[in-house]
Amino acid sequence: MTTNSLSSWSALQAHYDTIREARLRDWFAADTSPTRAERFTFAGGGLAADFSKNRITDDTLRLLVALAREAGVEARRDAMFEGAIVNPTEGRAALHTALRATRADAPYHEQIRAERAKMAAFAERVRSGAWTGYSGKRIRHVVNIGIGGSDLGPKMVVHALDHLAHPEIASYFVSNVDGADLARVLARIDPEETLAIVVSKTFTTLETMTNARSLRDWFVQRGCPEQALAKHFVGVSANPAEVVKFGIDEKNVFEMWDWVGGRYSLWSAVGLSIMIAVGPEHFDALLAGADAMDTHFRQAPLERNLPVLMGLVGIWYRNFFGSQSYLVAPYSEALHYLPSYLQQLEMESNGKSARLDGQFVDYATAAVTWGEPGTNGQHAFFQMLHQGPTIVPIDFIAVLTPEHPLASHHPKLLANCFAQSEALMLGRTVEEARKVAGPDKPELVPHLVFPGNRPSTTLLVDALTPHSLGALIALYEHKVLVQATIWNINPFDQWGVELGKILGKVVEADLVAAQFDPSKHDSSTSALIARAREASKR
Ligand code: F6P
Repeated sequence: MTTNSLSSWSALQAHYDTIREARLRDWFAADTSPTRAERFTFAGGGLAADFSKNRITDDTLRLLVALAREAGVEARRDAMFEGAIVNPTEGRAALHTALRATRADAPYHEQIRAERAKMAAFAERVRSGAWTGYSGKRIRHVVNIGIGGSDLGPKMVVHALDHLAHPEIASYFVSNVDGADLARVLARIDPEETLAIVVSKTFTTLETMTNARSLRDWFVQRGCPEQALAKHFVGVSANPAEVVKFGIDEKNVFEMWDWVGGRYSLWSAVGLSIMIAVGPEHFDALLAGADAMDTHFRQAPLERNLPVLMGLVGIWYRNFFGSQSYLVAPYSEALHYLPSYLQQLEMESNGKSARLDGQFVDYATAAVTWGEPGTNGQHAFFQMLHQGPTIVPIDFIAVLTPEHPLASHHPKLLANCFAQSEALMLGRTVEEARKVAGPDKPELVPHLVFPGNRPSTTLLVDALTPHSLGALIALYEHKVLVQATIWNINPFDQWGVELGKILGKVVEADLVAAQFDPSKHDSSTSALIARAREASKR
């Protein structure tokens, strides 16, 4: 399927030409009942999304939904939930939704329940202090060693739910092969009270295995008898044989499966660090929130379906307005790591050019995802969003009630979130800028003009709970599927990470070998290697 030859695509192109110059400010000024806010705010899975500050009309949404139907979003969604091979290049299903399904007829239900019960029993032992280290002390430090999907999801959730965390257990996440990452954590932990969770779907990932080995050596150097290492290491993997080979007791291996993609895996045993931090009940609530969004995604008509609408609005900007990136701005410190989590989810899933039928796309796919919590971003890069020549669509995320005791901060936080979307939408005309500049400073006028018409969606979360967080994450997961379907690409593989890994092994060997043959590489890479070799001699 060539998406841009679908009739709904051509209709959208024609429609775009009629509204590209239209101004949100005028649409809001001409608002009638029901208002834009009423017409374009939708709810699902316990969340609400106000799409009214987007450059859309009722016609735009109608045409975008027609595109979703014509591209087969419903069929692909259903195929995913039913466990069909929706990842054909790896011959796999993508059943992250089964991990949170409560229905007994959901795929792999018993297997999933058994593994979760094992996780819960283990997490309770760690949380209660029944699980002790080699010298009999309770665990106070949990170090998750993993990277990509084996790090970003758990790290994001543990940070987001810090207000529910066990008071005596601190969580750490080590991902980078840069020794500085592990060294920073080693300086803060005590081997007698530390539990390491080595998380790797493949259990072959260079960064994770390097960090895991260094951590194991550190335990031994710091007095942990080799035979007691089992008290300090557990593993999570789809490759249990490798975990056991590493030296982890097979009783302490938690399984994930090849039908769970790394970046969709926090709902599996990959979330063990989450369960230890906040407890099995809160972990269940996280799953229940995701399940609520799954149900909404499966059952709500496309016209009122949050993941579908978010995906479509993204397509509208990426493929019709030509936006290169989109910003995620959570007005929540707790959601600090959401943008980096979404970078992997969106860009590793949909940053592709090969279509499912093996041809190449001749349209844009994933935009660059980036972000930073508000209000910090306002004092850094929002200048460009307001007055730069480039349009960057934004997802504002507002949490209506605080999860911390400093309630007096909250109106200031929310005010900034809502005011930014208003300012970006309204802009400031030359006339208005003249008034602000005053009669003495006409030269300032161009600098005080804001083009406005800058689109944003505001997602509303009542309170940051495990349930709402689960729904929020699932919302983005499904948005990614919707976009992948329309772009006719496979969101569940990641062949693009392979080449660098292969060449990395060659370069690493060249960095440490006694002799180096520069003719093996281009002149730039050879010169870089030569400089690093020189530096290592110093
Ligand atoms: O290199 C990319 C990647 O394969 C991601 O897709 C994955 O989340 C990450 O590496 C970690 O992989 P693993 O869990 O197998 O260590």
